[in-house]
Amino acid sequence: MIVSIGGTKGGTGKTTLAINLAIMRSLAGRDVLLIDADEQGSSAKFTSLRNSECPGGAGYACIRLIEAEVADQMPELRDKYDDVVIDAGGRDTDAHKYALGVADIAILPFRPQSFDVWELAKASKIVHLIRPANRNLKAYAILNQADAVGKDNEEAADFASDIKNVRYYPHPIVSRKAFGRASGNGLSIVELSGRFRDQKAASEMYPLYELAFGEHFEQLKMAGNE
Ligand SMILES: Nc1ncnc2c1ncn2[C@@H]1O[C@H](COP(=O)(O)OP(=O)(O)OP(=O)(O)O)[C@@H](O)[C@H]1O
Ligand SMILES: [Mg+2]
Repeated sequence: MIVSIGGTKGGTGKTTLAINLAIMRSLAGRDVLLIDADEQGSSAKFTSLRNSECPGGAGYACIRLIEAEVADQMPELRDKYDDVVIDAGGRDTDAHKYALGVADIAILPFRPQSFDVWELAKASKIVHLIRPANRNLKAYAILNQADAVGKDNEEAADFASDIKNVRYYPHPIVSRKAFGRASGNGLSIVELSGRFRDQKAASEMYPLYELAFGEHFEQLKMAGNE
């Protein structure tokens, strides 16, 4: 599966969700490539940290590709890896368009804030533009950094549900400190242990994993991993 995580808005959680999906998929025993197509290089920096923190290494491969390189190299890469996750970055970049051109699934995270919701409409136009070149593309908007309580989520979800070309995926991921803590330590949300483990946060990632890969998340049992 080729999964693009992108959108035109900054700070919505694209990198956070991309690295978590890549790690979870690798924990499920798949050979995963994470492509950092964002010029900021956050996914690549995270992977360096993870490589230095984890005795067994990151568990997935990560490369940085610039714009058209994503399209040019995809035929070879899709044969080499079981799954590819692309951190397609933000703003109205060509990187995002190239990622949408090759992806099976596009995930567009947004926060329950007006600016993010308005930007979704822009992302919808880009999906519309790309679709003739990639007829199989399925695009989903997912609420990230959602409020734990209150009406803002519902209002944002209502707006997102009305946007054309993009389907609203009704499994919000709430804003939880554990995400930042995990990333800062080179870990995914499902790898936090002891008092830092946040089962609610982990369980909110499962539906996104299912959307991305079409399977329930099941961690491969390995020595030292039980
Ligand atoms: N569900 C969440 N709960 C709490 N914090 C989150 C969550 N998702 C992301 N964050 C935090 O929000 C910040 C922005 O996340 P991230 O860098 O993943 O966004 P981005 O969309 O990749 O940003 P950019 O547009 O700069 O690439 C980070 O500090 C991250 O830890
Ligand atoms: Mg990012």
